[in-house]
Amino acid sequence: MMRKFMVAGNWKLHGSESMLKNWMADFVTNDQSAKGIDVALCVPFLYVPQLSDSAPRSLIVGAQDVSAHASGAHTGEISAAMLKDVGAQLVLIGHSERRQHHGEDDALVRAKFKQALAQGLMPIICVGESQQQRENNETFAVIERQLAAVIDLLDADNAGQCLLAYEPIWAIGTGLTASAEQAQEVHQFIRSQLASKDVTMARQIRLLYGGSCKGSNAFELFSMPDVDGGLIGGASLAAEDFVAICRQANKLLDKKQSN
Ligand code: PGA
Repeated sequence: MMRKFMVAGNWKLHGSESMLKNWMADFVTNDQSAKGIDVALCVPFLYVPQLSDSAPRSLIVGAQDVSAHASGAHTGEISAAMLKDVGAQLVLIGHSERRQHHGEDDALVRAKFKQALAQGLMPIICVGESQQQRENNETFAVIERQLAAVIDLLDADNAGQCLLAYEPIWAIGTGLTASAEQAQEVHQFIRSQLASKDVTMARQIRLLYGGSCKGSNAFELFSMPDVDGGLIGGASLAAEDFVAICRQANKLLDKKQSN
């Protein structure tokens, strides 16, 4: 079993310094990251330095977006090098909210992915279908297209440092979770797409599930053979809820070890 990777994608456009401070205080008292899982927190750009100063060493520091450009006249943009400079180790790319509301297409996602790779930032590429696309039986076609934009950039050397998150849009922030079987079906499809390029790479890359994941459904989702962790939104707003999800991943590990 691959080491599970748990990501809190927190606050979006609701953050503040005091929210981060309180979150961190609650998190460190119950920190699960030192156990057998990797844990990351992704925050809005502005709070990356504060996060990087206050995070325990085991907590991976992440941002929620990155510029597609390395440098140049792009007022307001934040480059991968800048993120690195202030302590980020990881970055979300192509979250569905960015694809839907900020005009990010597959070409832009690819360009951002390249920037992250060039700077040694761990990218989490997000993919997922809308409700309409699922109803039209287009789920696999959509995922295949989104993967096609980045697949040639993945190889056995960088796969351990890259993550893919399957986040069905209909499950994000809606309380509707994909069933464990639905998640596994798509994760397996993603793994097979990757394997058709490089079997070793496909085995090494961790595939996260995101979309209304919470303490009550985490164990079942993480038990699936191709679900290697979670990208958690709403249920990570309170550190104790996020920690409860991390605990489920550790519980799974304990179960596997005792077998
Ligand atoms: P959710 O969000 O866990 O609240 O559904 C997931 C996300 O925003 O990536």
